[in-house]
Amino acid sequence: MTLGTPRMPRPASFLLLAATAAAALGCRPPPGGAPSTRHLAEARLAAPEGGRAYNLYCASCHGERGAAPDGASLVDGPALGARFATGLELLEYVEQRMPPGDRAGSLEPREYLAIAEYVLRARGLPVPRPFDRAAAAGVRLTPAGAPAR
Ligand code: HEC
Repeated sequence: MTLGTPRMPRPASFLLLAATAAAALGCRPPPGGAPSTRHLAEARLAAPEGGRAYNLYCASCHGERGAAPDGASLVDGPALGARFATGLELLEYVEQRMPPGDRAGSLEPREYLAIAEYVLRARGLPVPRPFDRAAAAGVRLTPAGAPAR
């Protein structure tokens, strides 16, 4: 490529290339812990029942994205990855404890499963299909929500 583009020192061009590749693959959360709009949109498409149930039963406290008024953000907060090692641990916690108080355990098992799938997908993690308890056990959480490499 000699089209008169300004010459760039090697390290800078490498960084630019890496950043472009990462953006194209969409496999990294945006800097600063901001929620990935793309992952959220994909999760809504791939796990629509989970997305609806999440918005109905969880979003009032955990936020639809980013900001969580009460409790941590489930979509992009680091808390989830620090607290749960796998999707199954997350699912079991939610089944037993959420929504908090009297309503803990009040959702259908199917709804809890769908919500767990939605949250994992919204965090940009690779989620196997069909999504059941065994599949959840195989999904490893990471602090930033980005897939482990
Ligand atoms: C009334 C507000 C409220 C609602 C509704 C609610 N939660 Fe929570 N949630 C909390 C609070 C507060 C905590 C922190 C509790 C703790 O750490 O003991 C929490 C903790 C959690 C955690 C552990 C992560 C963390 O922040 O430490 C998960 C996962 C979770 N909630 C998922 C859900 C899901 C899924 C739903 C919907 C089915 C839901 N919650 C509904 C308030 C809520």
